[in-house]
Amino acid sequence: MNSDESVAEFPVVDESVRRRLALALDVDDLVEAHRLAVALKPWFGVAKVGLELFSSDGPDAIGALRDLGYSVFLDLKLFDIPTTVNRSTKVLGSLGVEYLTLHALGGVDMLRAGVEGLAEGADNAGLPQPTSLAVTVLTSDDTAPPHIVPNRVRVALEGGCGGIVLAASDLQIARELAPRLKRVVPGIRLAGGARHDQARAATPQDAAANGADLLVVGRAVTKAEDPAAAAAAIAASI
Ligand code: C5P
Repeated sequence: MNSDESVAEFPVVDESVRRRLALALDVDDLVEAHRLAVALKPWFGVAKVGLELFSSDGPDAIGALRDLGYSVFLDLKLFDIPTTVNRSTKVLGSLGVEYLTLHALGGVDMLRAGVEGLAEGADNAGLPQPTSLAVTVLTSDDTAPPHIVPNRVRVALEGGCGGIVLAASDLQIARELAPRLKRVVPGIRLAGGARHDQARAATPQDAAANGADLLVVGRAVTKAEDPAAAAAAIAASI
């Protein structure tokens, strides 16, 4: 994709929309991640680094995306004993990420250890405070019993997280239980698009209308025949 040519065909997207769209760079190679990040920047203000990219390129990936002007969302879904999580988040907080995920399954003490470590790491590095996000139930999982999401939302609140990651179908319960938590929704698909392994997918319209603050978009754009057109369609719909 030649970004200059493809961008010219589409209306310019407002900054407030770009800030609500996170591009999931689920590739294991920084060159490819960088190429996607450059090409899709007109529509996305946040770049999500997941397990694949962090495993291959680690902190360099975060630096490269920050240099492009992105806010970085580090999606490691941390889940370990509180001490280990605290020590890792201290390091991660010094890297300049805006969001970091921890798994709510780890419980209140683990989340609190992570929230504190992240804040301390950022502080020590003189960086703005990042937001800790608790992952409730994976969007690929449609087998969790109904009490699990409310429990994990409460754990996120008690653990001091600034937000939660949840499926669009859980937005209403999250709004009721914890209106002040930022709501981050993956599993976004354009109507009729391939779902891949996402069991609880939603259209960007539905997610936005139900109160998603940040929409995580991966394959609906990165694997589209025309990624720029798919990104433009998503941006136009929220
Ligand atoms: O390609 P797709 O849009 O399905 O990518 C979704 C992204 O969101 C992936 O990077 C995945 O790791 C992440 N994610 C998710 N469900 C969660 C939390 C994160 O799909 N509950």
